Amino acid sequence: MLGSGSGSNCQSIFNAIDEGRLPAEVVIVLSDHADAYILERARQRGVRTELMDCGGYRNKFPLEVQERVAQLLRELRVDFVCLAGFMRLVKEPLLAAFPKRILNIHPALLPAFPGVEAWRQALEAGATQTGCTVHYVDAGMDSGEILMQAFVPVLPDDTPETLHARIQVQEHILYPAAILSALSRL
Ligand code: GRF
Repeated sequence: MLGSGSGSNCQSIFNAIDEGRLPAEVVIVLSDHADAYILERARQRGVRTELMDCGGYRNKFPLEVQERVAQLLRELRVDFVCLAGFMRLVKEPLLAAFPKRILNIHPALLPAFPGVEAWRQALEAGATQTGCTVHYVDAGMDSGEILMQAFVPVLPDDTPETLHARIQVQEHILYPAAILSALSRL
């Protein structure tokens, strides 16, 4: 798993494994931020963690870092790479190492509202419903083939925060189910 933030989706995957809903094992959690809570969640579970040093770039995912990550994940014999709140674009070194094996969760009904703070985008656009999407990752921004989606209504008194919170409830159900679906397609 790769994440930059709180790792609530990572936690939902741990929970799905523990509850027997997902026959999988998380072998490593990587982050580009030393203080990302996703790393703490992994440590608490005894899952290996790794910090990816992206050389001080805010958004760039340097190709040499992607090469190193690809090599490490191959050595660990991982089957799937799951992005959960990972804020950098994955490119060829990782994509080539794991063709159709990298998943991402996005907080909108793609192809609507790709990019950052998709819940805020939906609210500002006056959408009456939004949701979340699990998709295969390609070299674009939130543009890969869609695997599964869940709908979330936008309520009249929603703020960005309340809407995002309700989307996250659905994300935590959707992501483990989508991983299971991707596994069944192998
Ligand atoms: C989620 O809303 C996800 O859709 C987006 O980033 C957020 C990550 O949340 N890509 P968390 O770190 O899993 O709590």
